[in-house]
Amino acid sequence: MTAVTIAFFNQSGGVAKTTLTMNVGYHLAERGRKVLLVDLDPQSSLTTFMGFEPVELDKTMYHTLVQQEEITIFRDIFGMDLAPSNIILSKAEMELAGAIMRELRLKQALENIRNNYDFILIDCPPSLGILSIMSLVAATHVLIPIQTEFKALKGTQLLLNTILEVLNLANRKLKIAGIVPTMYDGRTSQGEQSLKAINEQLSKIGTVLPAIPRATDFANASQSRKPLSLYNPKHPAIELLQKIAKIVDTLS
Ligand SMILES: Nc1ncnc2c1ncn2[C@@H]1O[C@H](COP(=O)(O)OP(=O)(O)OP(=O)(O)O)[C@@H](O)[C@H]1O
Ligand SMILES: [Mg+2]
Repeated sequence: MTAVTIAFFNQSGGVAKTTLTMNVGYHLAERGRKVLLVDLDPQSSLTTFMGFEPVELDKTMYHTLVQQEEITIFRDIFGMDLAPSNIILSKAEMELAGAIMRELRLKQALENIRNNYDFILIDCPPSLGILSIMSLVAATHVLIPIQTEFKALKGTQLLLNTILEVLNLANRKLKIAGIVPTMYDGRTSQGEQSLKAINEQLSKIGTVLPAIPRATDFANASQSRKPLSLYNPKHPAIELLQKIAKIVDTLS
């Protein structure tokens, strides 16, 4: 096997990249897939949501990417593996400024372990810096979470330009796994119209996957450091996450 590697990417902050990475990963694991989550955000929300204290970690993705040490992996957390990060990763941008072919570092780091997994899911930071570029270069696919609001569509041109640039310059094989409208509020006409606009404008670029509703249990689950499915097994959004995982499971 060689892992389908998906970058969860959007340069906008707080659109549910991390929440989706963890929950889609969980439901892929539930389907019997071997899953590695890679935290590439110095804010390290994914590492936190998965139950770790980032500041207490000695070895993280910083050491892998900057010091070129072997990747550190924590095993079998809710059925998934995790390559953690912490705030020290924020130094990578500066420390790699002069490094030749630095955008290849993540791809190279994953080379040796790619055969151990069905899926590698990369949680990108909310920026267009080197960490996001590295992720798009290492990825076979990009999945774009987008907040279901009118203002979210404004940022998509910038997002798509970055993806196109990486496609042309560094990774001609990168495919768009899909667009996930997040924090959808179907009770308001604003929410409905925004979802309609996302469907109309973005389905040209990639499959628009099931919309994830706005629900406080997502925040509660991440605060309790669990996938939604383990926090509230009866939550209606679980079915949608399972649908997304099922579609992701067909990617190759
Ligand atoms: N569907 C949802 N409904 C309500 N709250 C949500 C939903 N999904 C995520 N959240 C909450 O919104 C906040 C932002 O989510 P998350 O951290 O996943 O976004 P992000 O895109 O990774 O953010 P960042 O850009 O800072 O990395 C978190 O507190 C999370 O618990
Ligand atoms: Mg995040």
